[in-house]
Amino acid sequence: MRIGILGAGGMADALGTQWARAGHEVMISGRDASASAARAATMTAEAARTSAEMASVRTEMASVRTEVAGARAEVAGAAAVAGARGEVVAVRAGSWAEAAAFGEVVMVAVRQAGLAGVLESAGGALRGKPVIDVANAEGPYDPARPIAPLIRDLTGGHVVKAFNLCHVDVWRLTPPVFDGRPLAVPLCGDDPAALAAVRTLVADLGCTPVDGGGLDRAVLLEATAAFMIGLWFGGADAQAVLPPVAYSGV
Ligand SMILES: NC(=O)c1ccc[n+]([C@@H]2O[C@H](COP(=O)([O-])OP(=O)(O)OC[C@H]3O[C@@H](n4cnc5c(N)ncnc54)[C@H](OP(=O)(O)O)[C@@H]3O)[C@@H](O)[C@H]2O)c1
Repeated sequence: MRIGILGAGGMADALGTQWARAGHEVMISGRDASASAARAATMTAEAARTSAEMASVRTEMASVRTEVAGARAEVAGAAAVAGARGEVVAVRAGSWAEAAAFGEVVMVAVRQAGLAGVLESAGGALRGKPVIDVANAEGPYDPARPIAPLIRDLTGGHVVKAFNLCHVDVWRLTPPVFDGRPLAVPLCGDDPAALAAVRTLVADLGCTPVDGGGLDRAVLLEATAAFMIGLWFGGADAQAVLPPVAYSGV
């Protein structure tokens, strides 16, 4: 897949590197062309390094047979991550408009302060394309002004809200598996083809995509992030607030 990324910061780096390693073509973009080019070079090097590392893990794991459920999940997650589809293609850097035009799928990973300006610079290239929105609010979250529908209205793209619940460092893990369970990634969006593309990109990280409903529910994902981040900053274990599914009452 060709993936354009509006952004050359932490989220662009973390997720773009994973997707480059998985065999996708990636173009990032930022305000400073030389800084973006330098970031693209380090992403390429890191993708190549982890690709080689995961290939050797995959070889080792092929010989591992275990009945331990947690270990099986780790094997499955690592195998998904290690499932590179070939050589790592060098990550490119371009302008906002070039990255928007390059991507069959485009991820918007810029800070809220720059969002409207960046999307304006990207022009009409996002219309009708799958657009991944990872944004969280800076400062207090206002559910009356959700970000995902704003991005839809500004771009005309098929927006899928995803990847906003976890810190950037989680998206660098190969794979993001905790206590033997691959991380589940909720997706909110309306367009079946866009959702299918993002599901593939989630699976390429070794994560499990979860249907979170239509884009009208993206506001809930944004509010959840705001709530959880508040708990984390308060020193609470946000993961501990939810019971196992057997106790969900369903
Ligand atoms: N960091 C996390 O843990 C995390 C987790 C989940 C979701 N998110 C969301 O992901 C998005 C990107 O976050 P990030 O961590 O990648 O941020 P970051 O590292 O600070 O990168 C921000 C990107 O936005 C660009 N940008 C454009 N206009 C800007 C402006 N006026 N002010 C500031 N930056 C501007 C920057 O351009 P330059 O490259 O030219 O600086 C940079 O590429 C945000 O919406 C954030 O809420 C972040």
